Amino acid sequence: MLETWSPDSWRAKPIQQAPTYPDLDKLAAVEERLRNFPPLVFAGEARRLRDSLARVADGKAFLLQGGDCAESFAEFRADNIRDTFRVMLQMAVVLTYGAAMPVVKLGRMAGQFAKPRSADMETIDGVTLPSYRGDNVNGIEFTPEARVPDPERLVRSYNQSAATLNLLRAFAQGGYADLHKVHQWTLGCVAGTLQAARYQDLCNRLDETLAFMEACGMTSDTTPQLRETDFFTSHEALLLPYEQALTRVDSTTGDRYDCSAHQLWIGERTRQLDGAHVEFLRGVKNPLGFKAGPGMTPDDLLRLIDTLTPANESGRLTVITRMGAEQVEAKLPALIRAVQREGRSVVWSCDPMHANTVKAASGYKTRLFDSILAEVRAFFAVHKAEGSHAGGVHFEMTGQDVTECVGGAQAITEARLGDAYHTHCDPRLNATQALELAFLIAEQLKDERALVRDRLRATGR
Ligand code: PEP
Ligand code: CO
Repeated sequence: MLETWSPDSWRAKPIQQAPTYPDLDKLAAVEERLRNFPPLVFAGEARRLRDSLARVADGKAFLLQGGDCAESFAEFRADNIRDTFRVMLQMAVVLTYGAAMPVVKLGRMAGQFAKPRSADMETIDGVTLPSYRGDNVNGIEFTPEARVPDPERLVRSYNQSAATLNLLRAFAQGGYADLHKVHQWTLGCVAGTLQAARYQDLCNRLDETLAFMEACGMTSDTTPQLRETDFFTSHEALLLPYEQALTRVDSTTGDRYDCSAHQLWIGERTRQLDGAHVEFLRGVKNPLGFKAGPGMTPDDLLRLIDTLTPANESGRLTVITRMGAEQVEAKLPALIRAVQREGRSVVWSCDPMHANTVKAASGYKTRLFDSILAEVRAFFAVHKAEGSHAGGVHFEMTGQDVTECVGGAQAITEARLGDAYHTHCDPRLNATQALELAFLIAEQLKDERALVRDRLRATGR
């Protein structure tokens, strides 16, 4: 039997990955200020995302979640936000048109600052300091001053999230995302690549479809779906004082929502069943995600699902598997079977980034495009074999022309990693690499759809 939940019941539970603030009075004062700030998102929007995700759980839509590993104060610029938004639109068009499936667009944006770390301390040249935990906790510079957790950073990240969200809403609803503008979304850095040519080809076919629709009377004026799109936000709910401070009672339902983002997820390192993060998130009504690494057992998975959605609400939960390319086939089938056996409804999403991180000889943390591709392929293959819907992907990516992941059609080599390595944490796919993956996924989804169609025909339904 679960105990009573309250917005602060997590405080009585063991907590992982929490920064050690030297001045707790200052932290409390910041929390009080945040409690009085306006919510960043509305409960109705979170419900709309949940409904979209319920369609994904049903096999009728696909989830595309992506953005920076860590947003930062230094990289806070309109063109960065626009370019990531743009690549996600491009990927969504490739998936929607290529696989004839609606795509739910969910940014790791407007709040994705805090980072769990594998070690509390970092040592460089004999000097040991607290690890960097994200710009909303401490500074990335390797100095004693910068590494002290400062609660004031929570206010700064709230403000940056508000401004980011404002721009995203304007892009999504203000005409930028109009399907008639697909050609204009191509980023300069992608131009001239094979992906750009494939994308142009798809745009030309889309133009023909749009012309046909216009002839039938469906224009951007008559059909808002052509003119605007839904774009939702998400981040890892790691800093619970911040998440609690932004939790509000929805006046229309009386339910509590964490109004810092539409979806919150629990990371691989903080998903302990009796821990603070699970305790906090089980009580808010937002759609939730959690990461499932190779150590996740079917029993743990079911217990976590039961705790986070006792009523088995469709669209509430996204299981983000991150097994590592080599481990998908060994680990994923048992998880899918357990969920099927117990009749649970979840969205299955694939994070092919976090278990495929390697260190290059030069010292850069990187990921091989081929390993990312291999994990995505294996994810689709396993879901196909188990008869379940490969529901989505979760990428660390940027619209910038970075050189952080090795390989892809541009054949980025280890030697070139230093050319444009800007991430504040993990290596991200660049725009060309992200688009390349979208084409691959569209093919896989097309296969899946054909299979489902054949099965329905065979059973006469
Ligand atoms: C992340 O998504 O940035 C992350 C830290 O992932 P994980 O919890 O899966 O390691
Ligand atoms: Co990461």
